[in-house]
Order: sequence, then structure tokens, then C-alpha cells
Amino acid sequence: MTTSVNTSPVWFVTGASSGIGRELVRHALEAGEAVAAVARRTAALDELGEHDQLLRIDADVRDEAAVRTAVEQTVARFGRIDVVANNAGYGLFGAVEEADDAQARAIFDTNVFGVLNVLRATLPVLRGQRSGHILQGSSYYGQTADPGVGLLAATKYAVEGLTDALVAEVAPLGIKVTLVQPALTATPFLGNLDAASVTHADYDQTVRAVQQAIGALPGSAFSGVDRVAAGIRAAVAGDNPPLRLALGAAGAEAMRSALNARIAELDEWAAVTQAVDA
Ligand SMILES: NC(=O)c1ccc[n+]([C@@H]2O[C@H](COP(=O)([O-])OP(=O)(O)OC[C@H]3O[C@@H](n4cnc5c(N)ncnc54)[C@H](OP(=O)(O)O)[C@@H]3O)[C@@H](O)[C@H]2O)c1
Repeated sequence: MTTSVNTSPVWFVTGASSGIGRELVRHALEAGEAVAAVARRTAALDELGEHDQLLRIDADVRDEAAVRTAVEQTVARFGRIDVVANNAGYGLFGAVEEADDAQARAIFDTNVFGVLNVLRATLPVLRGQRSGHILQGSSYYGQTADPGVGLLAATKYAVEGLTDALVAEVAPLGIKVTLVQPALTATPFLGNLDAASVTHADYDQTVRAVQQAIGALPGSAFSGVDRVAAGIRAAVAGDNPPLRLALGAAGAEAMRSALNARIAELDEWAAVTQAVDA
């Protein structure tokens, strides 16, 4: 049965059981929009209550077959998909050499290969419609990094890199793409962090110092999840959405510093750069 109308977007949200994803689900339902809410723990969506426009789907983004089934269920129920929030993800804290191989691969499995599973499952629908908007879950750590977040940043940089190509591949097909780059946001994200399997005292002045600094941050240093969801919805509603959407001034400033430093270094080494040209 198809219950959607063309003017009301149909959302497909991963990581819908918590934090930013759950807030996107809540906002969409409040606006009378249809939502497929995908997570491993859909029971966490119970407090949203029963909604005709809510389809809860229990799926792990690492499981490609489960993601394809989730997309099929969404199209069967709502007839189309307008906004894909490719949001599921988690963090890993520790020096680059402190995370073991299994931990490094695991975070790529969810944050990168999970994102790819969602893209491969949803793009055929969006291409068929010649419309849609994909929200790629990135971070200010998609453009910069601090000691201790190397593996997390590696996954977000990977998402940013593939998205820089994707946007030009799908624009001619009527599909928009936005990288969502929140600053620190008040969600259970920090509580859900994986921790590197070993710690070396050699990283006390760098990695552990960052850890302590984050632990000492006041609540006011975190963006409200309600405002982050509202910012994402503003980008979706716009006629000309950005490729990159920074949410939170501190994250935007960290990205600006990193980008300015890259330009400055490019200029500083320009003579060596150009000397290799024939
Ligand atoms: N909070 C921040 O400070 C911040 C800053 C920048 C970027 N972000 C990004 O924002 C996104 C959402 O994070 P959040 O802050 O809302 O964190 P969160 O509250 O911990 O929510 C993460 C969500 O991802 C889901 N998830 C994790 N692994 C999954 C898997 N294998 N399959 C399906 N779902 C999975 C979780 O659901 P289940 O466990 O039920 O599956 C949960 O709903 C992430 O990509 C994160 O990197 C967050």
C-alpha cells in the first residue's frame, strides 16, 4: 500500500535509535512526513509512540542483504524515498598505533562499508525517481583531526572522499548530496565510543591530554541535538543545498583552521611543487 504524497518527503534514516538519527525521525514525524527508521535496536524508538507514518526496521548497516531488504520494505510501504540519512556510526578513541587491527577494521565496517551498503541499496531507487537527497554522516573530523581520533577521522575522511566523487556522478540524475559535519553534539556518542585496546605512556601528552580536555568540557560545549536536526532539515528544505554542512561554530572553526593551514602549506612549498613539472 502506498501512503505517501509527493509533497511530503519520505525519509530513510539509519542510526535511528539514538542521537541525531532519532531526532531526525522525531522532527519528520512531527512535520507529518513518512520515515523508515533503521537501527539494530528499534525498541529504542518505542518512546516515539505509534505512528502511521513510521516504519521501524531492525537492520545492521554492516549487513548488505539486510539493508537491501530495508529499502525494499520502505518502497513497498511508502512508494518512494526522498531523503536518505546515512547517519549510523560510532567513534573509536586512542592513538593510531593503539587501536588493534580488529578495532580498526570494525569502525570501517560500520562508518564506511555501512555507508556504502546504504548507497548501493538506495541509489537504484533514487536514480529511478530521478530525484532524492542523500545526507552523508560526516563530522568536523571529516576535515581535521586531533590526537586520539585518527581512526574515527579516517572513516569520516573516507566518506568525504567518496562523496566528493558521488555528488558529481549523481547530480545529472537529479540527486542531491550533502555531507553533514556536526561539531560535538549532545548525544550518547561519547558514551558509545570504543577505546583502543592498549595505551602507551608515550601518548600521555597528546592523546590522553585530548581525552582529558574532552572529558572536562562543560555541557555548553555541545550542540543541542534538536538544533542539529533542525539544521539538517533546513538544508534539505533549501533549493540549493550545500555539499558540506557544518553544524556548530567550534567544529566550523576547527575546519577553517585546518583548511587555511593546508592552503598556507601549499603556498609555502609551491617552489618544490612546481620544480617537478617539466
Ligand atoms: N555526537 C557527536 O558529537 C557527533 C559529532 C560529529 C559527528 N557525529 C556523527 O553523527 C552520527 C550519529 O551519531 P550520534 O551522535 O547520534 O551517536 P549515537 O547517539 O551513538 O547514535 C549512533 C547511532 O548509530 C547506530 N549504529 C551504530 N552502529 C550501527 C550498525 N552497525 N548498524 C546500524 N546502526 C548502527 C546506533 O544504533 P544501534 O546501536 O541501535 O544500531 C545509533 O542509533 C555518527 O555518524 C557520528 O559519527 C556525531
